[in-house]
Amino acid sequence: MRPNKDCTGCTLCHSRQNVVYPDGDPDSPVAFVGEAPGRKEDEIGKPFQGASGKVLDKLLEEEEVPRSSIFITNTVKCRPPQNRDPTEDEMAACLPCLEEELKDRRLIVTLGRTAARDLLHRQVHLAKDANMITKVTIRGKEIDLVVAYHPAASFYNPKVKESLRETIRITRAYLEGHGNVSSTGI
Ligand code: URA
Repeated sequence: MRPNKDCTGCTLCHSRQNVVYPDGDPDSPVAFVGEAPGRKEDEIGKPFQGASGKVLDKLLEEEEVPRSSIFITNTVKCRPPQNRDPTEDEMAACLPCLEEELKDRRLIVTLGRTAARDLLHRQVHLAKDANMITKVTIRGKEIDLVVAYHPAASFYNPKVKESLRETIRITRAYLEGHGNVSSTGI
């Protein structure tokens, strides 16, 4: 199930250029969930193509995790005007589609506070919670979830970049089939 290219499920349809569909391996055990498409993503129709995508791609490359080996999506599939945060209503409209995308993964990585809140239904404190593994129930199935910083937060912050590097190492363990050595919980 995915929104069609003429989706009118929420008011973002009035300002978007393109519905931004997921990228990467549709069958990957690991899904990265960003917040929402930005200008570049809206233009091209793919997630994480702009400055945040470049940071993410570089970290993946440095940690030897091919971007094509993970599934990459967003909480909402259309760009919010002026890159504002997606509203609760917009996220709720896209949630059935997001759950469908995530229901068979082994690990979900939320990038940024908004994506974590959408799936965990509570606030997270990234300075404390980043890279802790918790569980989320999607369509009746428990799936490991790791809360991570948004790549944009690392632009001028080397500590955030290191934290994201650790996130990608956790990702690699799941891709290689030995994730979930310990669930730390948040
Ligand atoms: N930021 C996001 O959260 N998602 C994108 O696709 C691009 C930037």
